[in-house]
Amino acid sequence: MNINFKELAQKYQTPYYVYDFDHITNQYEELKSAFRARKSLLAYAVKANSNLSVIKHLASLGAGADCVSIGEVKRALKVGIAPYKIIFSGVGKIDSEIKEALELGILMINVESDAELNRVEMIAKELDVVARISIRVNPNIDPKTHPYISTGLHENKFGVDIDTAKRMYIQCKNSDNLEPTGIHLHIGSQLTELQPIKESVKIVADLVKNLAAIKIELSFFDVGGGLGIVYDDEKLIDTYEYAQTILDSLFGLDITVVCEPGRFLVGNSGVFVTKVLYEKINGEKRFVIVDGAMNDLIRPSLYNAYHKIEVLNNNEEHSDCNLVGPVCESGDFFAKNVDLPKTEHNDLVAIYSAGAYCYTMASNYNTRGRVAEIAVEDGEDRLIRKRETFEDIIALEEEFIK
Ligand code: LLP
Repeated sequence: MNINFKELAQKYQTPYYVYDFDHITNQYEELKSAFRARKSLLAYAVKANSNLSVIKHLASLGAGADCVSIGEVKRALKVGIAPYKIIFSGVGKIDSEIKEALELGILMINVESDAELNRVEMIAKELDVVARISIRVNPNIDPKTHPYISTGLHENKFGVDIDTAKRMYIQCKNSDNLEPTGIHLHIGSQLTELQPIKESVKIVADLVKNLAAIKIELSFFDVGGGLGIVYDDEKLIDTYEYAQTILDSLFGLDITVVCEPGRFLVGNSGVFVTKVLYEKINGEKRFVIVDGAMNDLIRPSLYNAYHKIEVLNNNEEHSDCNLVGPVCESGDFFAKNVDLPKTEHNDLVAIYSAGAYCYTMASNYNTRGRVAEIAVEDGEDRLIRKRETFEDIIALEEEFIK
């Protein structure tokens, strides 16, 4: 990544997020080519980074979209992703979202319970359309990742067990308004071990074969997302082996593979850049206080997640400290007990691996405007989201003051 953070700070102020679009291209091409032996669709998990310019960039490479709200579906459509490349997932879809998704004619709805299937059937009947259905199967496999981002065990709220899935497919087959189209699994995020994926895919592929035996033939096998990235020193799943494992399980089936990567495509494209406000010592403890905070990037506070941190100065003096923001919470930190150089007011600090689940999880807590987002492509930078102003933050409240 060859980005001049100082120049960008002068041009756009801090804090900001910057995304390297060329990195996103490389990640997309790597994964797409791993699946080249078969028809495949990479449906970008929009939740990872839903900036319209990021989605548009992926659309230009050929990506589809995996969406978890009708808002995300509309973002994907807005930047030109064709409806037949859009999937709508999520455990709690609202009637109005189901209705709109059916009217928009997207590729398929990933259904996560039999109650939801009944709802979709009812709405499809009212609209006199046929809903293309994919059922999310919960294979009950431990993905060996952080508990908050594990989704493939029965103790998690996601998907349905194999027997329920089978019943639901039979219901689809017997309905005038449901068409069994795909099958879906997603066991967790930031996965770094192939074995749980292999076991889960095998379980779901066996179900596909069982269904074929009773004349329920599915067109799409959606393996979800979850491929991990390097934050620290993780050893990653090789993308070729990943694809090969999936393709091996599907041997003999005429089915298109769908993959829903989020973090893998955008995670390491992004850097959050913030500047030092103050240093202080409380007793023995050194704190470096920066202008970015947990409302901008919550992963360390929420998951105790590690993000590599670099202070952009040449100071050789360094010591242990906590890197913290201005928000009124002790949980407002980017790193604890981290060895960093001595800083001066206005020194820049880069927080890496900030392209996925950082901006999208930002809030206005403490009436702090969400920060600017910048893209760098072919050595050129451009603003892709303005910094929010105080007026933006109060816009939806102001008219109600009595
Ligand atoms: N498909 C489904 C059904 C998902 O639930 C997810 C992520 C993805 C695809 C994309 O997963 P990825 O390829 O990005 O791992 N906020 C958390 C991550 C939550 C992931 C939720 N689901 C974090 O900051 O680590």
